[in-house]
Amino acid sequence: MDGQHDGPQGDEFPKMISTQAEEFSRRLAAIGQSRLAAAAQAAVDGLHALIVELRPSGEEFRQAIDFLTEVGHYADARRQEWVLFADVLGVSSLIEDQNSPRPVGATPNTLAGPFYRADVPEMPLGGNISRDHKGEPLEVAGQIVALDGEAIGDATVEIWQANAEGLYENQEPDRQPEFNLRGRFRTDPQGRFRFMTVKPKGYTLPSDGPVGQLLSALGLGLERPAHIHFRVSAEGFETLTTHIFDRSDPAIGRDAIFGVKPELMAEFRALPPNGGKRKHALDLNLVLCPQRRGETETSGRR
Ligand SMILES: [Fe+2]
Repeated sequence: MDGQHDGPQGDEFPKMISTQAEEFSRRLAAIGQSRLAAAAQAAVDGLHALIVELRPSGEEFRQAIDFLTEVGHYADARRQEWVLFADVLGVSSLIEDQNSPRPVGATPNTLAGPFYRADVPEMPLGGNISRDHKGEPLEVAGQIVALDGEAIGDATVEIWQANAEGLYENQEPDRQPEFNLRGRFRTDPQGRFRFMTVKPKGYTLPSDGPVGQLLSALGLGLERPAHIHFRVSAEGFETLTTHIFDRSDPAIGRDAIFGVKPELMAEFRALPPNGGKRKHALDLNLVLCPQRRGETETSGRR
Protein backbone atom coordinates (compact mmCIF):
# COMPACT_ATOMS: atom_id res chain seq x y z
CA MET A 1 0.00 0.00 0.00
CA ASP A 2 2.91 2.32 0.62
CA GLY A 3 3.53 2.66 -3.13
CA GLN A 4 0.27 4.52 -3.52
CA HIS A 5 1.61 7.47 -1.54
CA ASP A 6 4.84 8.17 -3.37
CA GLY A 7 3.72 11.46 -4.85
CA PRO A 8 4.14 14.93 -3.31
CA GLN A 9 2.64 15.13 0.15
CA GLY A 10 1.94 17.75 2.77
CA ASP A 11 2.96 20.98 1.09
CA GLU A 12 0.84 20.38 -1.99
CA PHE A 13 -2.42 20.30 0.02
CA PRO A 14 -1.55 22.10 3.24
CA LYS A 15 -5.14 22.50 4.50
CA MET A 16 -6.71 19.29 3.27
CA ILE A 17 -6.73 16.27 5.58
CA SER A 18 -8.21 13.91 3.00
CA THR A 19 -10.49 14.21 -0.01
CA GLN A 20 -13.12 12.28 1.93
CA ALA A 21 -12.96 14.64 4.93
CA GLU A 22 -13.22 17.56 2.52
CA GLU A 23 -16.27 16.06 0.85
CA PHE A 24 -17.85 15.26 4.21
CA SER A 25 -17.37 18.89 5.20
CA ARG A 26 -18.93 20.08 1.92
CA ARG A 27 -22.02 17.90 2.41
CA LEU A 28 -22.49 19.06 6.00
CA ALA A 29 -22.12 22.71 5.01
CA ALA A 30 -24.88 22.31 2.45
CA ILE A 31 -27.31 21.19 5.17
CA GLY A 32 -26.64 23.91 7.72
CA GLN A 33 -24.82 24.45 10.98
CA SER A 34 -25.58 22.74 14.25
CA ARG A 35 -23.69 21.56 17.32
CA LEU A 36 -24.04 17.99 16.07
CA ALA A 37 -22.69 18.92 12.65
CA ALA A 38 -19.72 20.72 14.24
CA ALA A 39 -18.99 17.68 16.41
CA ALA A 40 -19.28 15.33 13.43
CA GLN A 41 -16.93 17.53 11.40
CA ALA A 42 -14.35 17.71 14.19
CA ALA A 43 -14.56 13.96 14.74
CA VAL A 44 -14.13 13.21 11.03
CA ASP A 45 -11.23 15.66 10.73
CA GLY A 46 -9.50 14.14 13.77
CA LEU A 47 -10.10 10.60 12.62
CA HIS A 48 -8.90 11.27 9.10
CA ALA A 49 -5.79 13.07 10.38
CA LEU A 50 -5.08 10.00 12.50
CA ILE A 51 -5.51 7.68 9.54
CA VAL A 52 -3.31 9.83 7.29
CA GLU A 53 -0.64 9.83 9.98
CA LEU A 54 -0.79 6.15 10.91
CA ARG A 55 -1.69 4.60 7.53
CA PRO A 56 -3.39 1.56 9.11
CA SER A 57 -3.58 -1.61 7.05
CA GLY A 58 -6.92 -3.26 6.33
CA GLU A 59 -6.12 -5.85 9.00
CA GLU A 60 -5.35 -3.18 11.59
CA PHE A 61 -8.62 -1.44 10.76
CA ARG A 62 -10.47 -4.73 11.27
CA GLN A 63 -8.73 -5.18 14.64
CA ALA A 64 -9.87 -1.71 15.68
CA ILE A 65 -13.45 -2.53 14.70
CA ASP A 66 -13.22 -5.84 16.59
CA PHE A 67 -11.95 -4.00 19.67
CA LEU A 68 -14.86 -1.51 19.62
CA THR A 69 -17.30 -4.37 19.06
CA GLU A 70 -15.88 -6.18 22.10
CA VAL A 71 -16.19 -3.05 24.24
CA GLY A 72 -19.87 -2.98 23.31
CA HIS A 73 -20.29 -6.65 24.17
CA TYR A 74 -18.75 -6.13 27.63
CA ALA A 75 -20.92 -3.15 28.53
CA ASP A 76 -24.08 -3.83 30.48
CA ALA A 77 -26.02 -2.44 33.45
CA ARG A 78 -23.44 -3.68 35.95
CA ARG A 79 -20.29 -2.97 34.01
CA GLN A 80 -19.82 0.03 31.75
CA GLU A 81 -16.85 -0.84 29.57
CA TRP A 82 -17.31 2.32 27.47
CA VAL A 83 -16.92 4.51 30.57
CA LEU A 84 -13.85 2.52 31.54
CA PHE A 85 -12.43 3.09 28.05
CA ALA A 86 -12.96 6.85 28.32
CA ASP A 87 -11.49 6.82 31.83
CA VAL A 88 -8.20 5.15 30.92
CA LEU A 89 -7.67 7.51 27.98
CA GLY A 90 -7.97 10.49 30.33
CA VAL A 91 -11.02 11.61 28.36
CA SER A 92 -13.46 11.41 31.26
CA SER A 93 -11.10 13.32 33.53
CA LEU A 94 -10.59 16.07 30.94
CA ILE A 95 -14.33 16.43 30.35
CA GLU A 96 -14.90 16.60 34.11
CA ASP A 97 -12.23 19.29 34.51
CA GLN A 98 -13.76 21.33 31.68
CA ASN A 99 -17.34 21.02 32.88
CA SER A 100 -16.83 21.25 36.62
CA PRO A 101 -14.20 23.89 37.33
CA ARG A 102 -13.97 24.62 41.04
CA PRO A 103 -12.75 27.85 42.63
CA VAL A 104 -9.66 27.78 44.84
CA GLY A 105 -10.60 26.35 48.21
CA ALA A 106 -13.40 24.14 46.94
CA THR A 107 -12.87 20.38 46.84
CA PRO A 108 -12.01 19.37 43.25
CA ASN A 109 -14.54 17.38 41.29
CA THR A 110 -13.46 14.09 39.77
CA LEU A 111 -15.22 11.52 37.69
CA ALA A 112 -17.55 8.96 39.24
CA GLY A 113 -15.95 5.95 37.56
CA PRO A 114 -17.79 2.81 36.52
CA PHE A 115 -18.88 1.50 39.93
CA TYR A 116 -21.34 4.13 41.17
CA ARG A 117 -24.87 3.03 42.04
CA ALA A 118 -27.61 5.56 42.70
CA ASP A 119 -30.03 3.19 44.45
CA VAL A 120 -28.35 2.83 47.85
CA PRO A 121 -30.70 3.20 50.83
CA GLU A 122 -30.08 5.93 53.43
CA MET A 123 -28.52 4.97 56.77
CA PRO A 124 -28.40 6.77 60.14
CA LEU A 125 -25.19 8.67 60.93
CA GLY A 126 -22.58 6.39 62.48
CA GLY A 127 -23.82 3.36 60.53
CA ASN A 128 -21.48 0.71 59.20
CA ILE A 129 -21.40 0.40 55.42
CA SER A 130 -19.35 -2.79 55.60
CA ARG A 131 -22.13 -5.33 55.41
CA ASP A 132 -19.80 -8.32 55.66
CA HIS A 133 -17.32 -6.86 58.22
CA LYS A 134 -14.33 -8.17 56.30
CA GLY A 135 -11.23 -5.99 56.62
CA GLU A 136 -9.59 -3.56 59.00
CA PRO A 137 -12.14 -1.16 60.52
CA LEU A 138 -11.96 2.47 59.41
CA GLU A 139 -13.89 5.28 61.05
CA VAL A 140 -14.62 8.20 58.74
CA ALA A 141 -15.68 11.54 60.15
CA GLY A 142 -16.16 14.68 58.15
CA GLN A 143 -17.90 17.93 57.65
CA ILE A 144 -19.53 19.45 54.60
CA VAL A 145 -18.91 23.18 54.39
CA ALA A 146 -19.36 26.04 51.96
CA LEU A 147 -16.50 28.10 50.53
CA ASP A 148 -16.89 30.61 53.37
CA GLY A 149 -16.58 27.81 55.94
CA GLU A 150 -20.27 27.73 56.82
CA ALA A 151 -21.58 24.27 57.69
CA ILE A 152 -24.05 22.69 55.28
CA GLY A 153 -26.69 20.70 57.14
CA ASP A 154 -29.06 18.25 55.49
CA ALA A 155 -26.60 17.51 52.67
CA THR A 156 -26.72 14.05 51.14
CA VAL A 157 -23.40 12.21 51.29
CA GLU A 158 -23.11 9.11 49.12
CA ILE A 159 -20.14 6.81 49.53
CA TRP A 160 -18.82 3.88 47.56
CA GLN A 161 -15.54 2.05 47.83
CA ALA A 162 -13.72 -1.19 47.14
CA ASN A 163 -13.29 -3.78 49.88
CA ALA A 164 -10.07 -4.90 51.57
CA GLU A 165 -9.28 -6.97 48.49
CA GLY A 166 -9.79 -4.07 46.10
CA LEU A 167 -13.14 -5.22 44.70
CA TYR A 168 -16.47 -3.43 44.47
CA GLU A 169 -19.75 -5.08 45.38
CA ASN A 170 -21.02 -4.93 41.80
CA GLN A 171 -17.88 -6.65 40.52
CA GLU A 172 -18.63 -9.77 42.52
CA PRO A 173 -22.34 -9.78 43.27
CA ASP A 174 -22.23 -13.45 44.32
CA ARG A 175 -19.52 -12.92 46.95
CA GLN A 176 -20.41 -9.57 48.53
CA PRO A 177 -23.75 -8.59 50.06
CA GLU A 178 -25.95 -6.20 48.09
CA PHE A 179 -24.85 -2.58 48.74
CA ASN A 180 -21.69 -3.70 50.54
CA LEU A 181 -19.41 -0.70 51.15
CA ARG A 182 -21.96 1.73 49.81
CA GLY A 183 -23.73 4.26 51.95
CA ARG A 184 -25.99 7.26 51.86
CA PHE A 185 -26.09 9.65 54.82
CA ARG A 186 -27.56 13.03 55.64
CA THR A 187 -25.43 15.60 57.44
CA ASP A 188 -26.50 16.97 60.81
CA PRO A 189 -27.20 20.72 61.31
CA GLN A 190 -23.43 21.29 61.77
CA GLY A 191 -22.76 19.67 58.41
CA ARG A 192 -21.13 16.65 60.02
CA PHE A 193 -21.29 13.04 58.99
CA ARG A 194 -19.59 9.90 60.19
CA PHE A 195 -19.69 6.25 59.36
CA MET A 196 -17.85 3.01 59.90
CA THR A 197 -16.34 1.05 57.06
CA VAL A 198 -13.24 -0.99 56.32
CA LYS A 199 -9.96 0.27 54.92
CA PRO A 200 -10.16 0.01 51.12
CA LYS A 201 -7.38 -1.53 49.10
CA GLY A 202 -6.16 -0.10 45.83
CA TYR A 203 -7.05 -2.13 42.82
CA THR A 204 -6.27 -2.77 39.24
CA LEU A 205 -8.90 -2.03 36.63
CA PRO A 206 -10.63 -5.09 35.21
CA SER A 207 -8.15 -6.83 32.94
CA ASP A 208 -10.51 -9.47 31.56
CA GLY A 209 -12.25 -7.10 29.14
CA PRO A 210 -11.00 -5.38 25.99
CA VAL A 211 -10.03 -2.15 27.77
CA GLY A 212 -7.88 -3.92 30.35
CA GLN A 213 -6.30 -5.99 27.61
CA LEU A 214 -5.51 -2.88 25.58
CA LEU A 215 -3.71 -1.24 28.51
CA SER A 216 -1.79 -4.43 29.22
CA ALA A 217 -0.75 -4.64 25.56
CA LEU A 218 0.49 -1.04 25.79
CA GLY A 219 2.45 -1.86 28.92
CA LEU A 220 0.54 0.74 30.89
CA GLY A 221 -0.41 0.15 34.49
CA LEU A 222 -3.99 -0.56 35.47
CA GLU A 223 -3.52 0.45 39.09
CA ARG A 224 -5.67 2.78 41.11
CA PRO A 225 -4.40 3.85 44.53
CA ALA A 226 -6.73 3.09 47.48
CA HIS A 227 -9.57 5.57 47.76
CA ILE A 228 -13.13 6.20 48.86
CA HIS A 229 -15.62 7.83 46.49
CA PHE A 230 -17.94 10.60 47.69
CA ARG A 231 -20.85 12.35 46.08
CA VAL A 232 -22.28 15.26 48.03
CA SER A 233 -25.44 17.08 47.07
CA ALA A 234 -27.11 19.98 48.86
CA GLU A 235 -29.68 22.52 47.79
CA GLY A 236 -28.11 25.65 46.34
CA PHE A 237 -24.69 24.02 45.82
CA GLU A 238 -22.95 22.31 42.95
CA THR A 239 -23.05 18.56 43.43
CA LEU A 240 -19.56 17.36 44.29
CA THR A 241 -18.34 14.00 43.02
CA THR A 242 -14.87 13.20 44.23
CA HIS A 243 -12.49 10.61 45.67
CA ILE A 244 -10.32 10.76 48.75
CA PHE A 245 -7.06 8.84 48.27
CA ASP A 246 -4.77 7.15 50.76
CA ARG A 247 -1.61 9.23 50.34
CA SER A 248 0.60 6.37 51.52
CA ASP A 249 -0.48 4.04 48.69
CA PRO A 250 2.54 3.18 46.49
CA ALA A 251 0.43 3.77 43.34
CA ILE A 252 -0.54 7.32 44.34
CA GLY A 253 1.52 8.79 41.45
CA ARG A 254 0.18 6.56 38.66
CA ASP A 255 -3.58 6.42 38.91
CA ALA A 256 -4.80 4.74 35.72
CA ILE A 257 -7.76 7.08 35.33
CA PHE A 258 -6.08 10.40 36.29
CA GLY A 259 -8.16 11.11 39.38
CA VAL A 260 -5.49 12.01 41.96
CA LYS A 261 -5.10 15.68 42.85
CA PRO A 262 -3.08 17.07 45.76
CA GLU A 263 -6.21 18.29 47.57
CA LEU A 264 -7.69 14.79 47.44
CA MET A 265 -4.88 12.97 49.22
CA ALA A 266 -5.48 12.23 52.89
CA GLU A 267 -3.98 10.25 55.71
CA PHE A 268 -5.76 7.07 56.69
CA ARG A 269 -4.41 7.20 60.25
CA ALA A 270 -3.54 3.98 62.05
CA LEU A 271 -5.04 4.11 65.53
CA PRO A 272 -3.16 2.71 68.52
CA PRO A 273 -3.68 -1.06 68.60
CA ASN A 274 -6.39 -2.08 70.99
CA GLY A 275 -6.50 -5.83 71.24
CA GLY A 276 -7.50 -7.57 68.02
CA LYS A 277 -7.77 -5.88 64.59
CA ARG A 278 -5.86 -2.85 63.42
CA LYS A 279 -8.07 0.21 63.19
CA HIS A 280 -7.83 3.37 61.16
CA ALA A 281 -9.39 6.79 61.08
CA LEU A 282 -9.95 9.34 58.34
CA ASP A 283 -10.98 12.93 58.97
CA LEU A 284 -11.97 15.17 56.13
CA ASN A 285 -13.69 18.36 55.15
CA LEU A 286 -15.41 18.59 51.80
CA VAL A 287 -15.97 22.09 50.49
CA LEU A 288 -18.88 22.80 48.14
CA CYS A 289 -19.28 25.83 45.93
CA PRO A 290 -22.54 27.59 45.19
CA GLN A 291 -24.60 26.51 42.23
CA ARG A 292 -23.76 28.62 39.22
CA ARG A 293 -26.74 30.64 38.22
CA GLY A 294 -28.46 29.77 34.97
CA GLU A 295 -26.16 26.90 34.14
CA THR A 296 -28.02 23.90 35.55
CA GLU A 297 -31.22 24.99 33.89
CA THR A 298 -29.74 25.24 30.44
CA SER A 299 -26.70 23.04 30.09
CA GLY A 300 -28.19 19.64 30.74
CA ARG A 301 -25.21 18.66 32.87
CA ARG A 302 -25.70 15.59 35.01
FE1 LIG B 1 -12.92 3.54 42.72
